[in-house]
This record gives sequence, structure tokens and C-alpha cells, in this order.
Amino acid sequence: MEEEERDEMTESTAIPKSDATEDATPRSPLDLHEPAPAEPETKGWGSAKADTNAKSVVADNVDLFYGDFKAVEGISLTIRPNRVTALIGSSGCGKTTFLRSINRMHELTAGARVSGSITVDDLDIYDPRVDPVQVRRMIGMVFQQPNPFPTMSIYENVAAGLTLNSSKISKSEKDDVVERSLRGAHLWEEVKDRLDKPGSGLSGGQQQRLCIARAISVEPEVLLMDEPCSALDPVATLAVEDLIMELKEHYTIAIVTHNMQQASRASDYTAFFNLERSGDPGRLVEIDETKKIFSNPSVKATEDYVSGRFG
Ligand SMILES: Nc1ncnc2c1ncn2[C@@H]1O[C@H](COP(=O)(O)OP(=O)(O)OP(=O)(O)O)[C@@H](O)[C@H]1O
Ligand SMILES: [Mg+2]
Repeated sequence: MEEEERDEMTESTAIPKSDATEDATPRSPLDLHEPAPAEPETKGWGSAKADTNAKSVVADNVDLFYGDFKAVEGISLTIRPNRVTALIGSSGCGKTTFLRSINRMHELTAGARVSGSITVDDLDIYDPRVDPVQVRRMIGMVFQQPNPFPTMSIYENVAAGLTLNSSKISKSEKDDVVERSLRGAHLWEEVKDRLDKPGSGLSGGQQQRLCIARAISVEPEVLLMDEPCSALDPVATLAVEDLIMELKEHYTIAIVTHNMQQASRASDYTAFFNLERSGDPGRLVEIDETKKIFSNPSVKATEDYVSGRFG
């Protein structure tokens, strides 16, 4: 398995293995070095979700490097809470790289570097006091290829993040979170009678919804999706799009897509990235309401791209 795939298997739950012994206490990344409270938690990871956790993500002049190569330059944009923001642009313009910088996965690549700032509400996620592991918990990610843990059951796949995070959580609490997450991912009715069967036995669309259930089980504040429907057929794609529209009530969502219909159907805002010449860094051309980007964008390159004239 490639290095990157291994990262994704680990990070898709946003829970690295090294956290296996931690409790389920929801803490801000800046509270990391404080002792965990002794009281059982009543709200947060591993418990019923009451309100929206959605937070805004603000990138300010972000440059992203792989060694000496600057892949992305000068990105400043806001990803709004309870909205879906689509990231579009031709292959190689840095959409995935930028997305991975939002939950500090970019730095997992050897030699990768970030400059500029990214804040989630008021938290500077690159503040040296912030633990990247906590950032990856707060900001979940769903990948292009559905990647359920192959040896685990449907139930265990969803509970994986909780299990790794918590030694305290009871079986009935875990059952509740698994059901809530599967309902939230529109998968419960299809799998409720076979929770003990392998996650890898589901169809591609079901597996992707399982991965979404796994991502939301730990109650992230932001959900990043990198071409989540590219491996799915049109019916499964529409099911995931419906789900994304519902999830935005609770989360801040950024989705990378090459599918212009999907961006126009499923997103509220669209950010168009572009690459002027091969070897140049990718840049943000414009971000605006999706209906404006698709009907009357400010920049001609955007119009050319969304109308299929290039890229
Ligand atoms: N691990 C890496 N090491 C070195 N360069 C990389 C790495 N990953 C990506 N790049 C380079 O960074 C640039 C941006 O890549 P990225 O994958 O972010 O593009 P993208 O917009 O997501 O493309 P696509 O639409 O094809 O997925 C490209 O030039 C790519 O070759
Ligand atoms: Mg990509």
C-alpha cells in the first residue's frame, strides 16, 4: 500500500492510532495539555448531538509547498458554517493539497510545508500550541475512494473513531452513536439488520455513506470531502448529494468536485482554482455564490471553465 493510502486509512477517521488510550472528552485543540475532566461527559464526542458545531474556516494568504515546489499560492477565502463550499478547477491546480491543509494532513507528506494562516472560528490551527491530532478530529475528511476498514464490521467501522478515542464509553452509548451516525448518513435502514457484516461487503455508494457515518460519528466541526462521488454511479451520487445538503445543517462542508452539475446542485458557494501554466502554483481565481459562479462569474477564466471551454 502506498504511503498516502496508509495516511488516508488512518486519517479518514481523523483518529490516529496513537490516541487509542485517550478518553472521549471533547476538548479544544488549545486545551490539549490540560488534564481531562474527571466527570463523565454529557455532550460532545460520543454523545447525542444537540446543536450545530459548524465553524467557519478562514484561509489567509496560504502557500503550500512540497519541498521546493510551491503547489498552491496566496489562497485567501472563507468557508462558511452551515454551508457547502465547492472547490473546482482543473487537475493539478491544488484542490486536494489545499483541502488537506485545512485539517493539517498536508504536513504528513515528507517535505511538505505551509505558510499563511488558517483559522477555524478563532483558533489558528497552525498555532504551535495546537496539536494536529486534535485538529484532525475536529475536521473530518472523506476521500475519493470509499475506504472502510476492510476487516471490520459495519458497526465497528462506524464505532472505530469512538473506540480509539475512548476507554469510557459504554456499549449502549456506542450503539446510540452508531445508529445516529448511520441515520445521519442515510444508511441505517439499509444496514440495520446486518451491522455485524463486513463494511467491505457493501456497495460502493453504501461504503461511501459508511465512511461519511464514520467521519460524523466523532462529531467534527468541519467536514472535508475530496471528490466523494467520483467512484459512484449517478444514483449513489445523488444519494450522497442529498446527504450533503442535510449535513450542512450541522457542519461546515467543503467538497472538491470535477462534476459541474454536482457543484451547482449541491453547493452554496463555489471557489474556482486555476493554474496558469504547468509548473506554476495553483491560485484561487474567485469565490462567490454558486449561482453567480455558474451564471455570471466575475472572471472570464471561470466562465470558460464552468462552461466546459477548458479544463
Ligand atoms: N505528495 C506530493 N509530492 C509532490 N508534489 C505533489 C504531491 N501531491 C501533489 N503534488 C503536486 O501538487 C500540485 C497540486 O496537486 P493536487 O493533488 O492538490 O491537485 P488537484 O487540484 O487535487 O488535482 P486533481 O483534480 O487531479 O485531483 C500538482 O502539481 C501535484 O503534482
Ligand atoms: Mg485532487
